Amino acid sequence: MGSSTGMKADIESALKAGMEAGRAAHGGKNADYIPYLASVDPELFSLAIITADGQVYTEGDCDYAFAIESISKVFTLAMVMEHIGPDAVRDKIGDSPTGLPFNSIIALELNNDKPLSPLVNAGAIATVSLVPGESADECFEAILQCQREFAGRDLAMSAEINASEQSTNAHNRAIAWLLESAGACYSDPVRTVDVYTRQCSTLINCKDLATMGATLAAGGINPLTKRQVMDARYVHYILAEMMMEGLYTASGDWAYEVGLPAKSGVGGGILAVMPGQLAIAAFSPRLDEAGNSIRGQAAVKAAAASLGLNLFKAPCQ
Ligand code: DON
Repeated sequence: MGSSTGMKADIESALKAGMEAGRAAHGGKNADYIPYLASVDPELFSLAIITADGQVYTEGDCDYAFAIESISKVFTLAMVMEHIGPDAVRDKIGDSPTGLPFNSIIALELNNDKPLSPLVNAGAIATVSLVPGESADECFEAILQCQREFAGRDLAMSAEINASEQSTNAHNRAIAWLLESAGACYSDPVRTVDVYTRQCSTLINCKDLATMGATLAAGGINPLTKRQVMDARYVHYILAEMMMEGLYTASGDWAYEVGLPAKSGVGGGILAVMPGQLAIAAFSPRLDEAGNSIRGQAAVKAAAASLGLNLFKAPCQ
């Protein structure tokens, strides 16, 4: 990308390419194991690009607020990494992909009931159990505050989404008890799942998501508020985790085809980061078998290709 006028035109045409690719992507369905998510309009679709120096580009239903879901795992991991450091994250949670679905019990059993990755449910629950705080409210407030710093805005949890998730989270509670049995849940398991479930219920829009990603792209500095919201020394560990496990069982295909660290949520959000340059975020509720937004993946992939962004390509390629 060249001059700022050239860059503006490049990003505008990338957004257009992304919207076209997304609109052409059919199939899939809303997540339905959380009743609220099944009720969201499946045709909603938005795309946003925010640069590391704070230029904002949005298209589609960008005012619509959706549940952050698993994308929250990234920011709680960032917070816990600052608290205990990358070596302890690897020892206590793990740093590798599981090759299995995001809520897999088999993945736990194959690894002595310890999570391998901080971005699957088991690892994210273990991560939440490491958030400092005397009570569920205190831990959740710290997580929400961290999400707000990344988004640069006063985000809030949706009580409706949280109620829908809390009444259907028996599987995650089972995961927490398995972790507890293996010594890998570092706070009370019931409290931990409560907080994990709340952190998935924050409402964000596509611009918020792109801002959160642009903050990672900018080495932990939120490009809209200019605040350093995480320690720059740890950002690359977070991006490495996103590359390995951000799209669950589709992460390998994504690395092969797109080559950008990314993270999805069953709410339909997806975020990809080009370090030093920008973040691309999309939202659309219909999901594939792995739990990733069908339109979102198509849109982000086309926008990244239009901009020639792929970590594994030299700039001249
Ligand atoms: O814990 C769950 O199952 C959900 N609250 C979040 C899962 C999720 O978003 C997986 N991502 N694609």
